[in-house]
Amino acid sequence: MAKRLADKPRVSPGQRLSQRWDKMQGGQVWNSIFRPGSIFRKGYTDSPRNRSYVVMNSVLYHLHPVKVKRHAVKVSYTLCLGGLSFFLFIILTVTGIFLMFFYRPTDVQAWNDIKSLHTSVTFGLLVRNMHRWGAHLMVISVFLHMARVFYHGAYKAPREFNWVIGVILLTLTLLLSFTGYLLPWDQLALWAVTVGTNMIGYSPVVGSQVRFVLLGGVEIGPETLLRWYVLHVLMFPFVIVIFMAVHFWRVRKDGGISGPL
Ligand code: HEM
Repeated sequence: MAKRLADKPRVSPGQRLSQRWDKMQGGQVWNSIFRPGSIFRKGYTDSPRNRSYVVMNSVLYHLHPVKVKRHAVKVSYTLCLGGLSFFLFIILTVTGIFLMFFYRPTDVQAWNDIKSLHTSVTFGLLVRNMHRWGAHLMVISVFLHMARVFYHGAYKAPREFNWVIGVILLTLTLLLSFTGYLLPWDQLALWAVTVGTNMIGYSPVVGSQVRFVLLGGVEIGPETLLRWYVLHVLMFPFVIVIFMAVHFWRVRKDGGISGPL
């Protein structure tokens, strides 16, 4: 027994630790985290190819292009208006979800729910105002972004498809803004929507049918509120997110942003 113990090579705690470390490094978990191209990977030579690997293999980094033109990162070129529009959309989504916890889209409850946001909900007034001002700012920033794109001639080939996607995004932004306007169910909203839908009613061919669908009847009423609520919180945000994804993908596919002038 004593002989057998003596035969076994003596392993110090330090050596045991280093053996365990080596074993862990060869393991599947380790390799899946520290695979080639991972930002955690050490000992990688800093070459353009390896930098590309890092960007492509990271969930966060891959949202960025591997290479960016020098002028494109200048704030003075884009004024960050596209990014600002997207940022405002995120703010609107987060604040909108908060408001949904306290708002019920019925003619009896809607206005009272909005009122009690001001008085009985912690940060209710702040969040409501963030949502309202955010919506106004998004309309302005999307419009200015479009003007910037036009100024740089970025509507021309190869970006004409993305320009059309942009027009759809502008329309959706305006529709989101307009449908949200009715939800407080106050006199201002009521008459603005009455005027708006009457104007739609005068469009040629399908005007009155579209008006009927939008109102959920022949005149504005509780059905209109529910209809616009669903459009505002579900349908338009869903559609705009899809078009934004296509928009961002196209920016990358068209070789990054245009320019310089
Ligand atoms: C919800 C609205 C929109 C969002 C979130 C958005 C977002 C963006 C972003 C982040 C970029 C990258 C460059 C930059 O920031 O300027 C971009 C580029 C572009 N956008 Fe938009 N955009 C929107 C609406 C529009 C509209 C209304 C148009 C035009 C009708 C448009 C047309 C374009 C074009 C053509 C480019 C490429 C610009 C270039 O290459 O210089 N976008 N957009």
